[in-house]
Amino acid sequence: MNIRPARVEDLAGMQAANLQNLPENYSMKFWLYHAMTWPQISFVAEDHKGRIVGYVLAKIDDQESSEDPVHGHVNSISVLRSFRRLGLANKLMLASQEAMRSVYKATYVTLHVRKSNKAALGLYRDSLGFKVDKVEEKYYADGEDAYSMRLTMTD
Ligand SMILES: CC(C)(COP(=O)(O)OP(=O)(O)OC[C@H]1O[C@@H](n2cnc3c(N)ncnc32)[C@H](O)[C@@H]1OP(=O)(O)O)[C@@H](O)C(=O)NCCC(=O)NCCS
Repeated sequence: MNIRPARVEDLAGMQAANLQNLPENYSMKFWLYHAMTWPQISFVAEDHKGRIVGYVLAKIDDQESSEDPVHGHVNSISVLRSFRRLGLANKLMLASQEAMRSVYKATYVTLHVRKSNKAALGLYRDSLGFKVDKVEEKYYADGEDAYSMRLTMTD
């Protein structure tokens, strides 16, 4: 299994994995916008035949003011069911975080997760050290609340 930066030609495979794994789906324009704007911080996991089995899609958030430090945001991450619990999501997140830090000098990273998503919460909180910043009520289209999570990246 290989982890590498996502390229434009991977976007269809990333979108297909997203459709299989999550109810939050996006137009190809959205995927392309991320790949073209922040090409270094989204990553894919591919199998030995080059098929996309996981991805992380990330961006650099707009700064609210000049004092607001540069920070990254993870829009979406997923791994195909038969490739889970192999450490791929952990590696994808670490690769993205490291690129946010080294390329953009980002000092923290944020994301949203469903309160009920035990696997993702285990990944973010227990493996990667994210903390819950706040609860965003009815964040998702079906009315579920989100945890807004944050990880400070130190040198
Ligand atoms: C969440 C998801 C991306 C994790 O992918 P993964 O490649 O299986 O995760 P990893 O193997 O890297 O696991 C890293 C850690 O996350 C936690 N974790 C992963 N799956 C878990 C599960 N089912 N239950 C509890 N903890 C889990 C564990 O702490 C794990 O470390 P360990 O295996 O040493 O115990 C995957 O389950 C997935 O694609 N789910 C559907 C899409 C989704 O929910 N995305 C997140 C949206 S916010």
